[in-house]
Amino acid sequence: MEAFIRGLPKAELHIHIEGSLEPEMMFGMAERNGISLPFGSVDEVRAAYEFTDLQSFLDIYYQAAEVLQTEQDFYDLMWAYLERVHRESVTHAEVFFDPQTHTGRGIPFGVVIGGLSRASVDARATLGISSFLIMCFLRHLPESDAFQTLEQASDFKDSIIAVGLDSSEVGHPPEDFASVFAAARQQGFRAVAHAGEEGPAQFITDSLDLLLVERIDHGVNCEQDPQLVERLVDEQVPLTMCPLSSVKLRVFNSIGDHSLKRLLDGGVKVTVNSDDPAYFGGYLTDNYLAVQPALGLDRADVVQLARNSFEASFLDDDRKARLIGELEGYARSEG
Ligand code: HPA
Ligand code: ZN
Repeated sequence: MEAFIRGLPKAELHIHIEGSLEPEMMFGMAERNGISLPFGSVDEVRAAYEFTDLQSFLDIYYQAAEVLQTEQDFYDLMWAYLERVHRESVTHAEVFFDPQTHTGRGIPFGVVIGGLSRASVDARATLGISSFLIMCFLRHLPESDAFQTLEQASDFKDSIIAVGLDSSEVGHPPEDFASVFAAARQQGFRAVAHAGEEGPAQFITDSLDLLLVERIDHGVNCEQDPQLVERLVDEQVPLTMCPLSSVKLRVFNSIGDHSLKRLLDGGVKVTVNSDDPAYFGGYLTDNYLAVQPALGLDRADVVQLARNSFEASFLDDDRKARLIGELEGYARSEG
């Protein structure tokens, strides 16, 4: 089963590129950019990755992102991620980035998007892996800030497929961002939002009704509202779940408690993702390998999760059909 999962063609739809910053790369960039870190060694950094909730993680994550300074830094970060997941059979990735984390400390939007998109183009050309960029608004900042970010993105529209909403969920409901999401959709951006990670099921409903998002990121708290679960099934709203993340951030006590299998069996379009792989103990394949035995997934479940990941993607119909065909061929020949 492990070899089957490693070789299984799959897509990743929920990865924050800043969350793929490995401690080794953090030290390398700190050194080349003349930045001092509050950690003495790579081991010390890893030891600090003990989180009690989302906020305790975000505090470290935003601080670490300060080593990212130049276009080359953003290129190296994106390239390292794509090159790594390409080796574990990821054929397509939709990658979040947080422009405000960088523009807020004086790094121009163009530096961020320039490095990320150049790596995306190079990875498609040399490795064959396709990737899209999703620009997230930080929900702990005011909507006016998000509008400024949308404005800055206007020169780079061709490199950004969608907008998203992330950062501290509790106390920052989706309705606070309804206007900026409407403006973004009007400009042609697609839309997703983190909801129901720590926040209530109502935030999932409101993200669908007020932000008009096409996917929900995490969505684990949907089970609080059986009618909402029914709606997710009826409308086939994809949930981009991140099992290792939800245990690290103590949403669930253990992987065995995760709702993914219950929801999958109930007909919800769930997908497996890594969220912030450098912080939460693993990349996409590690997440599949964690849930498979813990939730008793069989081969058909695993193949369904991978099929969902392509179906829920923003790929055009041609490439989507091709990548699903590749997956089906693999499942037949390895099954
Ligand atoms: N939730 C909200 N914001 C985030 C996350 C997350 O899991 N990871 C990075 N930013
Ligand atoms: Zn996330």
